[in-house]
Amino acid sequence: LRRGTAAPDLAGRRVVISAGGTREAIDPVRFLGNHSSGKQGYALARTAAARGADVTLVAANVSLPDPAGARVVRVGSAVELAEAMEAERAGADAVVMSAAVADFRPVASAASKIKKSGAAPAPIELVENPDILAGLVASRDSERLEQTIVGFAAETDDVIANGRAKLARKGCDLLVVNQVGGGRAFGTEDNQAVVLGADGTAVDVPTGPKEDLADRIWDLVRRRLD
Ligand code: CTP
Ligand code: CA
Repeated sequence: LRRGTAAPDLAGRRVVISAGGTREAIDPVRFLGNHSSGKQGYALARTAAARGADVTLVAANVSLPDPAGARVVRVGSAVELAEAMEAERAGADAVVMSAAVADFRPVASAASKIKKSGAAPAPIELVENPDILAGLVASRDSERLEQTIVGFAAETDDVIANGRAKLARKGCDLLVVNQVGGGRAFGTEDNQAVVLGADGTAVDVPTGPKEDLADRIWDLVRRRLD
């Protein structure tokens, strides 16, 4: 399916997409975050809605206009994102984790704003966040749900080997692997990826608009659903 055509080939399908980047509170005014713009997730939501899907977009700290035709659920932290994804995934044909999830969060968020004391700053102790994608796969399999689950990964060095290892570790059906470094930056309008399948397939998507990559991902998801 090419952009601009209106074939509703995802009609009757429900999809859930996470987008953006989580923020992990340090105190009431500060957080640990990342540079994810949410643009790829929003492009996934727009294209799925244009193809007729019932779309829920779980957005973590994104400042973009709501995509036409999508229901938007807003979250802040990784724990909030995990709860929203577990709730929204019920009855979905496909779940796509395009959000950048903080791997760690502060053990506790200070109730009051942390002040300079003149002494050396206190270290921030971190604890690991739940692996949302792996959790969705585990609960799908234990509950025998029919659901296609897609992950994203940004890799450097041996991108394919790293991607294959991550796909196996996460247990998802498709992993969209972006090559980062070498001048590629967050927040850009274009994206390039190789989409790895658990069945051993690899589909190269050349540099182009994020909508084009989104459409290629939906093509691969639809093929699994048919
Ligand atoms: N992800 C997730 N929960 C986390 C971390 C990551 O659901 N706590 C998801 C991301 O949304 C993405 C995929 O897992 O779809 C891969 O994220 P990535 O950060 O590449 O994987 P990690 O397992 O965190 O590995 P790494 O040590 O390379 O960061
Ligand atoms: Ca990570």
